[in-house]
Amino acid sequence: MAKVAASILACDLARLADEVKRVEEHVDMIHFDVMDGHFVPNISFGLPVLKALRKETKLPISVHLMITNPEDYIDRFIEEGADMVAIHYESTFHLHRLVHRVKDLGAQAFVAINPHTPIDLLSEIITDVDGVLVMSVNPGFSGQRFIARSLEKIRNLRKMVKELGLETEIMVDGGVNEENASILVKNGATILVMGYGIFKNDNYVELIRSIKQEREEFAD
Ligand code: DX5
Ligand code: ZN
Repeated sequence: MAKVAASILACDLARLADEVKRVEEHVDMIHFDVMDGHFVPNISFGLPVLKALRKETKLPISVHLMITNPEDYIDRFIEEGADMVAIHYESTFHLHRLVHRVKDLGAQAFVAINPHTPIDLLSEIITDVDGVLVMSVNPGFSGQRFIARSLEKIRNLRKMVKELGLETEIMVDGGVNEENASILVKNGATILVMGYGIFKNDNYVELIRSIKQEREEFAD
């Protein structure tokens, strides 16, 4: 069954705890986007906000690092409560080392890829990670339009994971909504991240319910 992550970048940040409480019983995890103004053209929030949020929810928190020097911050994000850490393939020379650092510290390690990054580049890291975060918009902002060819990327990634006999999670992030959620799950996405789809959508409860009924079309 597909899981849903609520991306708080799109919520009313002045009322963060209330916003999380509002969606808590419907979603499987909170998605926490960290942006540094270098790796992406936006600045969001970081360690002190994660620390504060950690006290407000028992849901797992997936931290998506959109920063140029992830090696300097991984330990502290896990200390402050990250259950999963997604590191961009494009952001480091030493992905293997960082992935294993995350796992050694007891969190799940995800590798994130920008829309232009081919999945073929994951062949030497796929067996080391718990999941792949496929960016289906260019990272930096909530509320952007889903890049259509991401669907094929997810399908191919699902094939790759299956052929290798792995259980790797496939997280899709960016522009997920009523129109594409079901087809994404059918094609192998196992975690759907949604910002606007939840916090700017009056029908989010219904949308999440329908996602949970969806099945992967090439499931065993
Ligand atoms: C974009 C972020 C996403 C974003 C998703 O850089 O990584 O997590 O908040 O928001 P929506 O679902 O609104 O595209
Ligand atoms: Zn994200």
